[in-house]
Amino acid sequence: MSAGVSDRSNRFLRALRREPVDQTPIWLMRQAGRYLPEYRAVRARAGSFMDLCQNPELACEVTVQPVRRYALDAAILFSDILTVPDAMGLGLHFVDGEGPRFERPIRDQHAIRQLRVPDPAVALRYVVDTVGRVRRELGGLCPLIGFSGSPWTLATYMVEGQGGHDFRHVKGLLFNDPEILDTLLATLTQAVTDYLNAQAEAGAQALMIFDTWGGVLSARDFLRFSRDPMARIIEGLSRRREIPVIVFTKGGGAWLPALADTGAEALGVDWTVSLREARAQVGGRVALQGNLDPQALYAPPARLRAEAEAVLRDFGGGAGHVFNLGHGMLPDIAPEQVTTLVEAVQTASRGLA
Ligand code: CP3
Repeated sequence: MSAGVSDRSNRFLRALRREPVDQTPIWLMRQAGRYLPEYRAVRARAGSFMDLCQNPELACEVTVQPVRRYALDAAILFSDILTVPDAMGLGLHFVDGEGPRFERPIRDQHAIRQLRVPDPAVALRYVVDTVGRVRRELGGLCPLIGFSGSPWTLATYMVEGQGGHDFRHVKGLLFNDPEILDTLLATLTQAVTDYLNAQAEAGAQALMIFDTWGGVLSARDFLRFSRDPMARIIEGLSRRREIPVIVFTKGGGAWLPALADTGAEALGVDWTVSLREARAQVGGRVALQGNLDPQALYAPPARLRAEAEAVLRDFGGGAGHVFNLGHGMLPDIAPEQVTTLVEAVQTASRGLA
């Protein structure tokens, strides 16, 4: 198949639009992070993780590190999904080894009605500044992905006050007072829409919505509380036709047709999904991004290569695939393993893509 002119500067964006490419583009969720010694060095200089996110110079540096070290086809803004609730006044901090915590979780009607949509140009100015800086630093080497959490996923952290275990508070709200949960999600939908529009204005070339906890909902609740808010965000993007959107619901493999109805150009899929079956269901409407099991990076190199090739074969060649992990990079992966993975995907897909 003719590849047109595709290279590192546009292969990822072409694949999202299901246009032909010379080889399957690859980037990795959490490609900037603790497994890289150069990340750990900058993180130590910054102080805390939040200090790093809020420092555009250093956040730019760690965004670009992985695309300097590896032949990856996209950079992803270094930030966190929880900067939005932080900007809404919940007081985010990270407890070492335990993950995120909010000082002021949102539990009742009163707190939900008090919440205000933050102006990204003010409260999230550091993110907007980082996006502009990264675009200048990349200078066309590869595209930059901006992102946000989904309203449902942000709501789980805001109501639980931390990462979910049994989701008792947010599910309690869902079953006891669904209308007030709708109110919270409507506020977050507006906040995320404004935030993604600000990132696009500042230069983000693709946008990704991380719906990390969509998969803990029942099929029916998923549509109302997770899918519909994401569809409204996509509808509200001002540069809708220019900038492709990727929606990733972890654990959402059973709902791909419903996710394609959001209007996204691409769906992220975790490693429990068969790309062949996913493609049969929605491949005519969206591109697919995924889906190597992140733990495959612990395997010996020959096995890692074979696993990567199996993912490519599962998709089956042709347009519309972006290679990625099925979830984020783990912090103790050896950096050389990523070199092996990137080379394997690029070599094996040249004949297929
Ligand atoms: O992908 C990238 O390289 C871009 C940066 C990025 C981070 N977080 C950096 C980060 C992105 C896209 C995220 C998204 C994010 N953050 C999600 C959605 C994706 C997913 O993984 O499901 C979620 C749920 C969060 C919330 C969050 N932030 C958690 C649960 C943690 C882990 C806490 C821990 O100690 O492991 C974080 C912190 C975080 N975000 C780190 C990084 C590199 C580790 C911070 C450090 O340096 O200590």
